[in-house]
Amino acid sequence: MSTPTTGTIAVFGATGRQGGAVVDALLDHKAPVRALVRDPQSDRAQALAARGVELAAVRTDDPASLAAALTAVEAFYFMTPEANSLEEVETEIRIGTALVDAAVAARVPHVVFNSVIGADREWGVPHHDSKHSIEEHLRKSGLRATTIRPAPFMEEMAPSLEHGEIVLRLPLPEHAALKMISLRDIGRVAAALLLDTAKAPGDAVELVGDELTGPQIAAAFGARAGLPAHYEALPLSVLPNDLDRAMFRQFAKAAEHPSDLAVVRAIEPATLDLAEWIRSTGWTAPRSVAGS
Ligand SMILES: NC(=O)c1ccc[n+]([C@@H]2O[C@H](COP(=O)([O-])OP(=O)(O)OC[C@H]3O[C@@H](n4cnc5c(N)ncnc54)[C@H](OP(=O)(O)O)[C@@H]3O)[C@@H](O)[C@H]2O)c1
Repeated sequence: MSTPTTGTIAVFGATGRQGGAVVDALLDHKAPVRALVRDPQSDRAQALAARGVELAAVRTDDPASLAAALTAVEAFYFMTPEANSLEEVETEIRIGTALVDAAVAARVPHVVFNSVIGADREWGVPHHDSKHSIEEHLRKSGLRATTIRPAPFMEEMAPSLEHGEIVLRLPLPEHAALKMISLRDIGRVAAALLLDTAKAPGDAVELVGDELTGPQIAAAFGARAGLPAHYEALPLSVLPNDLDRAMFRQFAKAAEHPSDLAVVRAIEPATLDLAEWIRSTGWTAPRSVAGS
């Protein structure tokens, strides 16, 4: 792997799934990484430190802690935490806004914001519209910024094994194609942008590695397991909150917003499609559910 000469790259969310994948990809490139963490003593933070990652303790409501953590960095990656209620959406906007403001104050040369698919517009999904607001704040900040907008994670696909058959259930109509990306590839694309080894056209890129209907997703897992596969479309009422219901309502209309998978592959040529992700992760069929 090529080793670009780079200054320190700051990562917010490094103990989480996407930020963790970004750290993995940066360390693969031997880039110096500083993780902005709430608790440097947490097991996840300590595991990063053991891999050579510098830790900076931050509180998003303490600009001085953020300013110190962003001092003299070459680039800054941030995501915003999951929101499951309108109150948490407000918190998410507050955190994202504080991180942008801190990057401005610290004169960070390049910021990569991990937004979400669809957040280039307001589309009635509160925890996506929150990211749209942060994108707008970033755009107005004057920072050099690149926005990545990941589709749902392939890692979220969890088929079961029932009566010798792979069964996938999602609250998505059979005909709707779901856009997906692997965490590994979110990390790789973000790292390429942070290290300036790639650029996103228009300074934004929707991260999609595959686009498949429920029956096609089930079939991909079934093919790997060597078993028949079955898809069952569930009603939106199975979802735990209005935010997720609004999100899946939009996912059902994905055909209105075609994706350009080639753009992601231009940045990360080895971007995985679902079948490749299933193979590369060593996925095996889960244990049969009780009674089947
Ligand atoms: N699930 C999907 O398919 C999908 C797809 C696209 C986009 N998204 C979006 O991705 C985001 C979640 O990303 P993820 O799954 O990578 O997150 P995650 O694994 O839940 O990790 C959250 C990270 O944020 C940090 N964090 C949370 N609150 C913080 C705070 N107040 N101050 C400092 N750090 C804080 C956590 O640090 P600690 O170690 O301190 O907890 C952790 O590093 C959500 O905004 C979601 O909408 C999700």
